[in-house]
Amino acid sequence: MDIPTLRQAVEASPDNVPLLLLYGKALADAFELDEAKATYERILKLDADNAVAIRGVVNVLQQLGKYSEAIIRVEHIKERNPNLAQVWFSLAELYCVDEQLQLARDHYQRACELDPALRSERLERQLGQSATEQKDAKTEAIPTDVGGAAAGAMRDPNEWDDKRGSEGMDPLEALKIEFLDKREKIRFSEVGGMESLKETIRMKILYPMQNAELFAAYGKKAGGGVLLYGPPGCGKTLISRATAGEIDANFISVGLHQVLNMWLGESEAKLHAIFELARKYAPSVLFFDEVDALAADRKDLRTSAGRTLINQFLAELDGNIAENKDVLVLGATNAPWHLDSAFLRPGRFDQLIFAPPPDEPARRDILDIHLKNKPTEKIDLSKAAGAMKNFSGADIKAAVDTATETAVAEAMKKGKLVPLSTKAITSAAKKTKPSTMKWFDSAKNYALYANQSGFYDDVLTYLGIKK
Ligand SMILES: Nc1ncnc2c1ncn2[C@@H]1O[C@H](COP(=O)(O)OP(=O)(O)OP(=O)(O)O)[C@@H](O)[C@H]1O
Ligand SMILES: [Mg+2]
Repeated sequence: MDIPTLRQAVEASPDNVPLLLLYGKALADAFELDEAKATYERILKLDADNAVAIRGVVNVLQQLGKYSEAIIRVEHIKERNPNLAQVWFSLAELYCVDEQLQLARDHYQRACELDPALRSERLERQLGQSATEQKDAKTEAIPTDVGGAAAGAMRDPNEWDDKRGSEGMDPLEALKIEFLDKREKIRFSEVGGMESLKETIRMKILYPMQNAELFAAYGKKAGGGVLLYGPPGCGKTLISRATAGEIDANFISVGLHQVLNMWLGESEAKLHAIFELARKYAPSVLFFDEVDALAADRKDLRTSAGRTLINQFLAELDGNIAENKDVLVLGATNAPWHLDSAFLRPGRFDQLIFAPPPDEPARRDILDIHLKNKPTEKIDLSKAAGAMKNFSGADIKAAVDTATETAVAEAMKKGKLVPLSTKAITSAAKKTKPSTMKWFDSAKNYALYANQSGFYDDVLTYLGIKK
């Protein structure tokens, strides 16, 4: 039966568990993951111990990259009903992906005791294999290979170069990525607020470049990875560009969707070419927007090929393939919880930094920046910023744009310049809807319930939940 037919049937008998199971599976197969999840949850409300539904929810959460959430949910089920073999088995799989191998083995063992039919060669292999790989993690280019993808599947770094050479393609054109050379000059001064983030970035790349010998004495090199996360419009992309201007480096911006939209196997080569480009043009800022796409591209990740792409990315970041000297890798995401925790190990994106909505002083700063070069009266920045609670940087810009449009219209009528006033700005602010609150609705749940290693403490602090 197809999905619309099943949906109709479910509407007619909403408590029919076998029917709901069919529907859930059809949805999951069609990658309608949110609806699949909701369906399995409905089943669990009707039949809390339904093993198929538990499995279904876990699969969906895994496909969404929400490993932590999956673990939390299944642990809850386990508490309620400690003798369900499927629950132990699911947890074994989840802990395996999360690389908590001892926990994974313990859970697997218990699952098999409860139900020997659950024995899985695949999982056993992964548990054994990952264990030996962990030992070798430092010397191997591929630190983890949970999906079972063979190391040999990774592209030989030279392969792409050869191909490109023979076809004589301009790599930038071939890659269709944004490349700005050093002439582009947005500086930190054009980014309002974000002071501690600016200092972190300087510490990672600017100071080590300026004081190479001193940093070398401490075994520190310029470069590394920083992952920025936060609500939309709060300056993640802007500060990444400005970093390149500030340190006088090249800026290479990659939307990961561009990489993922390739044929399988091509993506790795493309990713490698991008990193090579950044190394060649160092000092450079290599910016990956929407890094969560790596985890969220469900179709790819269902296969081991997706895993291989992640491994390629991590190996490039690690500097195992080639040194990333003077290359600062910045990543930005609205949904860091979709990312595999392997991204956040030391040496990779080893700093996860929250880019919050601007506080009042930052809002003044941003206002000042966006009012620059416009005809204004003397603006009471505190008053204007005070009218912009919960505004993102983009919202502030939108309010200024609205006020400007009104002023221009008036100026045309009057035939002379009408300077922007504090009042014009505050009334434009009233017409602008702050856009950051919606993000916190979902962020809050992750921060509360999936806050491994305290990654999202900053979100809780921002919300006043944690001091
Ligand atoms: N701190 C800031 N200072 C000055 N302008 C800002 C600031 N933050 C945001 N803006 C304005 O908002 C616009 C959008 O910001 P930006 O693209 O950097 O947001 P983002 O955090 O990357 O959002 P998204 O998550 O949607 O990608 C910027 O181009 C700029 O005009
Ligand atoms: Mg952005």
